[in-house]
Amino acid sequence: MENLKHLAIIMDGNGRWAKEKGLTRVKGHEKGAEVVREITTYCASVGIEYLTLYAFSTENWKRPKAEVEFLMKLLDKYLERELTTYQKNNIRFETIGDLSRFSKALQKRIASTKEATKTNTALTQVLALNYGARDEITRAVVKLCASGETVSEAAIEKHLDTAGFPEVDMLVRTSGEVRISNFMLWQIAYAECFFTETLWPDFTPEELAKLIEEYGQRERRYGGL
Ligand code: IPE
Ligand code: IPE
Ligand code: MG
Repeated sequence: MENLKHLAIIMDGNGRWAKEKGLTRVKGHEKGAEVVREITTYCASVGIEYLTLYAFSTENWKRPKAEVEFLMKLLDKYLERELTTYQKNNIRFETIGDLSRFSKALQKRIASTKEATKTNTALTQVLALNYGARDEITRAVVKLCASGETVSEAAIEKHLDTAGFPEVDMLVRTSGEVRISNFMLWQIAYAECFFTETLWPDFTPEELAKLIEEYGQRERRYGGL
């Protein structure tokens, strides 16, 4: 899509969706994972180049151990099951965030999924895993200092997890919360932001299509006239 290369989504509201239905929170995460597949294949079909999805934040470790463990297992199962979806739709899988805190087995699954899909050329789906923007920027600065390079915006960018990705054009957050929660602070500098009340498990390609249409009507000025 000409004017929309990079879409980023804060997928929020899984727990509330489940609670509304009298289900346990993890059922919301299960449904949420299905929505990830639907939204990803939709984005590939309309020619978006990068879709970054906030799946697990550096702060989410604070949640009860059972929920964290469920999310880790869900991610592993998702990557295993969806490999055919990636291949069928020519989707490349990437991540941002510090993977070192995940189990060796999960790190292996992530690495093998990246390897298997690395030559796919339609959409790049980027999962933000153990991701926090402050952590990412701090890690980038540490690498930059160690390299001895002169500090500049381009030099910082080169050491971010998103090095080589286009800037975020459009940011969506579901579930009615109007905050960023430590997501891509550097990359959203000039993103158009959209907040919808819809809980992530209820989010659909149809609603995304409407938001994209609205995005197309916005005038992006980047500080100019
Ligand atoms: C988003 O849904 C998924 C993750 C953060 C892993 P939540 O689990 O935050 O759902 P709510 O916000 O409690 O409803
Ligand atoms: C942001 O959602 C993180 C992800 C979507 C992975 P949270 O539910 O963790 O954020 P807060 O706590 O509402 O800010
Ligand atoms: Mg939440």
